[in-house]
Amino acid sequence: MRKLPTLTTERLVLRPFLLSDAAMVQRLAGSREVADTTLAIPHPYLDGMAEAWIATHEGAWTRHESATLAITEAEEGLVGAISLRIELPQRRAELGYWIGVPFWGRGYATEAVRAVLAFGFGRLSLQRIYAYHFVRNPASGRVMAKAGMQLEGTLRGHFYRWGSPEDAAIWGLCADRSE
Ligand SMILES: CC(C)(COP(=O)(O)OP(=O)(O)OC[C@H]1O[C@@H](n2cnc3c(N)ncnc32)[C@H](O)[C@@H]1OP(=O)(O)O)[C@@H](O)C(=O)NCCC(=O)NCCS
Repeated sequence: MRKLPTLTTERLVLRPFLLSDAAMVQRLAGSREVADTTLAIPHPYLDGMAEAWIATHEGAWTRHESATLAITEAEEGLVGAISLRIELPQRRAELGYWIGVPFWGRGYATEAVRAVLAFGFGRLSLQRIYAYHFVRNPASGRVMAKAGMQLEGTLRGHFYRWGSPEDAAIWGLCADRSE
């Protein structure tokens, strides 16, 4: 696949980001609540950061490093982001995602995760997809559970965010095994 794909679910279209999404990315990812439980989202989210981030996506996809897609809904437009950070020699990828605060609790993250798992195991032929969440962020664990991932363990003080260590839960799913 030369270009980043577009994936369609019942309510969502997961498509490559456009530079024209930048203002909405800054607004949604710029909220403290979204940055709070992620590692990669800067805070404060300054002008130009969204454009710079979006500009990396096609190259990272072409180099088989990552697949990053905008989560969009027909009426709302951009509601979030989802990515696979690919480690091709291991045939595995780390999943990450966020949903803008106004759209929490509608099942969008779960729907997007299901589609990206199918894409990773199907078209990318991955053998393992895994993800972390801070233990203090149980909503993300719930998303992974609903999408069929398995809780594999808890890593104490695995991450450092906002000047404090964070315990992390790790979840995974393998192509050939359901448990
Ligand atoms: C985590 C996040 C992606 C969830 O997105 P979402 O679209 O609201 O998720 P869904 O609606 O698909 O599912 C959320 C589930 O968590 C549950 N939930 C919400 N708050 C919860 C809490 N404090 N404790 C336990 N479960 C909780 C919801 O009830 C729902 O489960 P249910 O369908 O069984 O009722 C979103 O809150 C977010 O973007 N947070 C900030 C960024 C982030 O943490 N990203 C993930 C990093 S690992």
